[in-house]
Amino acid sequence: MTHIDFVEQLLARMTLSQKIGQMTQTERMVVSPQQVKEFHLGSVLSGGGSAPAGNRPQDWVEMNDAYWAASMDADDEHLAIPLIYGVDAIHGNNNVLGATVFPHNIGLGAMNDPDLIERIAEVTAREVLAAGVEWTFAPTLAVAKNLHWGRTYESYSSDPALVSRYSGRFVKGLQGELAEHSVVACIKHWVGDGGTSFGIDQGDTAIDWQTLSDTHIAPYLPALEQGALTVMVSFNSWNGDKCHGHHHLLTQVLKQQLGFDGFIISDWDGIDYLDDDYLKAVELSVNAGIDMFMIADKWQEFIANLHSLVADGRVQESRIDDAVRRILNVKFRYGLFDRPRPSERPFSGDALFGSAEHRLVARQAVAQSQVLLKNDAQILPLSKQASILVAGRFAHDTGALAGGFTVAWQGQTGPDALPGATSVWSAVKASAPRAILSAQGDGIEADPDAHDVAIVVIGEHPYAEGMGDIRPDENQVVESGSKINGSLKVLAPYGRSLELATLHPEDLQTIQNIIARGVPVVVVLISGRPLLVDPEMAASQAFVAAWLPGSEGAGITDVLFGDKAFTGRLSFAWPSLSGPGFERGFGLSAV
Ligand code: BGC
Repeated sequence: MTHIDFVEQLLARMTLSQKIGQMTQTERMVVSPQQVKEFHLGSVLSGGGSAPAGNRPQDWVEMNDAYWAASMDADDEHLAIPLIYGVDAIHGNNNVLGATVFPHNIGLGAMNDPDLIERIAEVTAREVLAAGVEWTFAPTLAVAKNLHWGRTYESYSSDPALVSRYSGRFVKGLQGELAEHSVVACIKHWVGDGGTSFGIDQGDTAIDWQTLSDTHIAPYLPALEQGALTVMVSFNSWNGDKCHGHHHLLTQVLKQQLGFDGFIISDWDGIDYLDDDYLKAVELSVNAGIDMFMIADKWQEFIANLHSLVADGRVQESRIDDAVRRILNVKFRYGLFDRPRPSERPFSGDALFGSAEHRLVARQAVAQSQVLLKNDAQILPLSKQASILVAGRFAHDTGALAGGFTVAWQGQTGPDALPGATSVWSAVKASAPRAILSAQGDGIEADPDAHDVAIVVIGEHPYAEGMGDIRPDENQVVESGSKINGSLKVLAPYGRSLELATLHPEDLQTIQNIIARGVPVVVVLISGRPLLVDPEMAASQAFVAAWLPGSEGAGITDVLFGDKAFTGRLSFAWPSLSGPGFERGFGLSAV
């Protein structure tokens, strides 16, 4: 039987309740396995940081077994259709303790290596499968155009050409031939997420069609060509109209013109902002072309609303059938109908999860993503025989290096945030036996008789989404929001300025503590984006943009000590208070 016959025969047997259930996805915390069966749900997800107790791969496999078994428990009321479980594995399987955590996308952009991108996606897929999960909401194909945007680090580059060089390769690494070792990819967020006015998260992208197409749509093309099976809609609006209700962008452009035959999923309660009347919001979004709906608390209300819209003829059954056909097709093409329960799948609980082999791939990516911005008097590479003072807020912090979307939605800080991870201090100590850690981190013990050089690790603490926005002026929200049809959800921003000295004055103080005592400083900046760092750069002898490198801090010391060359190049232009900053493509080599 061809897969089309299979899907059509299944569809023909489904009741309206079963179809609407397939179109519904909700969060693990608000749904039991029994409800998955009762409401015939097509999917369950983990929102950022949501994990079963214990949070080890085995705990995830057990949880997924229970959901899967419920979805497959056929009786007179319920057809066996395997549930698909989705997670944000956006830099490795980052929700799970002990996972290999890769650099966030901005660092991967600086590494400019499509082969390594594909390998990273393969490793990520393997670690997702280890948890009994089959779907990741990745890769993000945003082309970030304003550094104020809190999601800038999820963007490989401000250059659509670089994002396009990666997009297809990442999807290939995840999905491969849709075989045993594959997971389903979800390219996001369609479309224009990186182009909002003032860089406001979930804001309005006010640009003409040509710019939208050339800048924000272009990177999707190689990913679609590679067969990306799912696409997530973006929270943003395009010229005032929300993507979640945008028939033209979802149905005409994506499905019809670009021939996308997988399914479209909404973002987290993304339909809420279309209209105050939820019934109307459901109507608009289903008719715009969304196939599966990511709904948190009010998923039962969504189901009830969609039933009544069909009964009233406001949503045609043909639209429901189209959505369900697409969902079943994806499940079929991925081979979900033939896969056994998660615990019996080949890579569940896989020993390669968080293994040395996988961590080496991440370490390589970290080393290649470091961008050297300044190296006076060739202070780098450092000698391993040097006596090195390691200071700064993030000197011995694994959580800060990983950033947002790591174990918790907003990320975490602290030396033990990520089991198995290596902080900069741990990595330095392993290479340079005479290194010492600054007691309070502030470097006041610096002493030229005792220390040849200091490494100072500073920067932004972890954040995710709108909580990473920089908003100099609250009027921007009013101005931006007033142009949007529907409502704008605004979170408290990270700060008011991109100046590090304003955001974290203690960082400059640490550098000054050390240079005032006569010890030269090498800065390692941990950040989700280029920051204004004029005084910090002026005071230091060498300056490295380390981005959000993830679990393998030794990738940083690989280049600091010259075991590997600095090959990273900026994938975003770097601003400066004094006028000229650094162009995209800039990066020194320390040889
Ligand atoms: C984010 C998505 C993410 C989803 C599920 C949303 O808030 O915008 O990128 O995939 O949550 O966690």
